[in-house]
Formats: sequence, C-alpha cells, structure tokens
Amino acid sequence: MTMRVEAMSPVVLRNGVAVTIRPLAEDDRIALARFGKSLPEDDALYLEDDLSDPSIINRLINAYAAENWRQMVAVRDDGEVVAYSAVRKLVGWSSHVGDIQLMVGKEFRRSGLGTEMAKAIFESARGLGVAKVIVEMLAVQVSGRAIFERLGFSREGIFSKHAHDRHGNRHDLVVMAYHVM
Ligand SMILES: CC(C)(COP(=O)(O)OP(=O)(O)OC[C@H]1O[C@@H](n2cnc3c(N)ncnc32)[C@H](O)[C@@H]1OP(=O)(O)O)[C@@H](O)C(=O)NCCC(=O)NCCS
Repeated sequence: MTMRVEAMSPVVLRNGVAVTIRPLAEDDRIALARFGKSLPEDDALYLEDDLSDPSIINRLINAYAAENWRQMVAVRDDGEVVAYSAVRKLVGWSSHVGDIQLMVGKEFRRSGLGTEMAKAIFESARGLGVAKVIVEMLAVQVSGRAIFERLGFSREGIFSKHAHDRHGNRHDLVVMAYHVM
C-alpha cells in the first residue's frame, strides 16, 4: 500500500467503533467508491463532488499524492471507508488558501467522527503551509457548522444563490474561515 505518512492509531468513537484516520491511498479506490455510493440521496444533492460518480472517484484516487492536495479517510478494521475529507490549495491569487471538504457516512454520524476528521484535515492544511483555511457549505447544511466553529472558524461571508443542487435549485453558500497566519 502506498501512503504519504505512516498510518495513525485507531480512534474509538462514541458509538464504540474503532476507526483509523489516515491519508487516502491508491488502493482505497474500491472502498472509496463503495463509500460514495452509500451516501444518502440528500447528500448527493448538496455535495460539491458527486462521490457516487466513478470518474470523480478516479480523480480523487489519482490525486492521492498530489502536491497541493491532502486527502484523509477514516477506515474500519475491515477496510471499509466511513468518512472522507480533503484540503486543496486554491490557485492564482488565492494560492495561500486551503479549501476543506468533509463527509461522514450516514451510520457514523453524531459519533464524533466529523470532529475527528475535521481536526485531522485541519492539521493537514497546516502541513500544506496555507495561511488561511476555508470551508464552504450550503446554508441548508447546518450540521457542519458547529464542528468548524469549535475549531475556531468563523463565518466570513454568504454568497447569495451561489450553488445549485442536483435538482437545479439555487442555494446560498456560506464560507467559514480560519486565519493561520
Ligand atoms: C457534517 C458532518 C461531517 C458531521 O459529521 P458527524 O460525524 O455527525 O459530526 P460529529 O459527530 O463530530 O458532530 C459534531 C457536532 O456537530 C453538530 N451536528 C452534527 N450533526 C448535526 C445535525 N444533524 N444537526 C445539528 N447539529 C449537528 C453537533 O453540535 C455535534 O456535536 P454533538 O454531537 O456533541 O452535539 C456530516 O453530517 C456530513 O457528512 N454531512 C454531509 C456533508 C456536509 O454537510 N459536510 C460539511 C460541509 S464541508
């Protein structure tokens, strides 16, 4: 298995299940695709990347070692991926900014995994050397807000009707940010 760093110790979640949070590896392709397909339909409507789409999975896996991108997964003992997060450096005049994505499998929600994944990807963002970290979410996606507020992020703006879901409905986009330096 090719990995950027050594696997980390397992974390026992509030639901009693132990997961290992580690960088995405090239041979996570099948497990990541299975995770994408398992996400609830509501998530598929609102997520920036459609993880049920095999071409998106290929793009993520192919970028497992990309310089400007860090991707983390939470994996159960049996190898199943139960959460995914990423931070990617933006380009051009925002090349000092990292943009975070985070999603947790339906069955693992409210067990603290989102918080653990957010902490891990925030550390990865620091490792990328970015001066500012942002996370974008639709105004309707209330569940992610508490996690990032606890990490010290604050709301920096709302882009009105800036994102559309897969039914074509437009939604306000909330940007939360943390200034590292
Ligand atoms: C947002 C998400 C990652 C949270 O994952 P999680 O594993 O449930 O998070 P945690 O268990 O660590 O919850 C942390 C806190 O978030 C808040 N929270 C989580 N889910 C919530 C919900 N459905 N409603 C209200 N608050 C919620 C709570 O304050 C919770 O703390 P508590 O359980 O101690 O009360 C998960 O719901 C998800 O993947 N959603 C779809 C994608 C998304 O919205 N991503 C965020 C934008 S990047």
